[in-house]
Amino acid sequence: MLERIDSLRDEASAAIAAARDPAALEELRVRYLGRKSELTAVLRGISELEPDQRGPVGAAANEARRALEAELSARAEELEGAELERWLAAGAIDVTLPGAPPAPAAAQNLLIRTQREIEDVFVGLGYRVMEGPEVELDYYNFTALNHPPGHPARMAQDTFYVDPSTLAPDVTVDGGLPPGPEDVVLRTHTSPMQVRAMENQEPPIMIVVPGRCYRSDPFDATHSPVFHQVEGLAVGERITLADLKGTLDAIARAIFGPQRETRFRPGFFPFTEPSVEVDVSCFRCGGSGRLEDGSRDPLCKGVGWIEILGAGVVDPNVFGFVRENGYDPERVQGFAFGMGIERIAMLKHAIPDLRKFFENDVRVLEQFR
Ligand code: DAH
Repeated sequence: MLERIDSLRDEASAAIAAARDPAALEELRVRYLGRKSELTAVLRGISELEPDQRGPVGAAANEARRALEAELSARAEELEGAELERWLAAGAIDVTLPGAPPAPAAAQNLLIRTQREIEDVFVGLGYRVMEGPEVELDYYNFTALNHPPGHPARMAQDTFYVDPSTLAPDVTVDGGLPPGPEDVVLRTHTSPMQVRAMENQEPPIMIVVPGRCYRSDPFDATHSPVFHQVEGLAVGERITLADLKGTLDAIARAIFGPQRETRFRPGFFPFTEPSVEVDVSCFRCGGSGRLEDGSRDPLCKGVGWIEILGAGVVDPNVFGFVRENGYDPERVQGFAFGMGIERIAMLKHAIPDLRKFFENDVRVLEQFR
């Protein structure tokens, strides 16, 4: 009997150690310690044994029972622990890994990208990038750019005027007077920075001025009351129209491709003399005006040239406003130019509608990441 208890105990121990999960353990508990188990039967039958057997058999059976119960609960704990470990390992987060980068909410607007591209080209040519105020004095927007009061060119610009009572009290005009109703405008172009920059820096000067401009225009496929320009100004002792041509060739090639040519047509701006309208050879048809199939190129309308900006030689009258700052019209000369950023971006990326720049439609933005 004692031997049988020993072998039962060994068998149960081995089975417990080999159990793989809590359900298997429960089965073993029923099999070896349950009401119908052999060990229980042994304990129940003790009274029927020979008196001298009862003590040792009872002690051995009880000892086996206790030992197996202890082994069962130890193994149960082990299995639960292992399960917890597995569960933790499966859901583990490695906090030392870099987080997944969030999807970008949007992209840089194509206008700003185009602006930066233009800035980069000019920085490469030795220009400095400056910005100026969008709420501007009539003096810088018109008068100092050789549009005397009453000049018809002022009328061409559909100017927004700013109520001067909305300005800080320290804004003054004409040597200390408070500004009147026609003295403050939303700048209609970036050209006012020409005179502001020359007031602050002696020649030579080479600057580009990107920024927002405003005109009382409708908002449609080709107009917007808010738009962007890049102004350029280069003044020194021997800067000529030929330098302007070389500079504009460089920018046209950087933006529209290495084969591009530029051409000047006569134009008029009050602050340049002579003034030119600048065209770039069409980058779709290569300047022929015809597409490969012989049809008329719709981009340049069959002309082979596309207008990209206005420019000219700085009018000596403009220097007259900054003579005191070192710009003697008898000694210095230079050129200026102004281009519309929307126009450049529309041409370059075949964008048919100006409004696309301002609607922030993610589908449009995503095309120009
Ligand atoms: N400011 C002019 C405009 O908005 C563009 C322009 C033309 C700028 C000729 C210039 C220039 O600096 O020389 O229409």
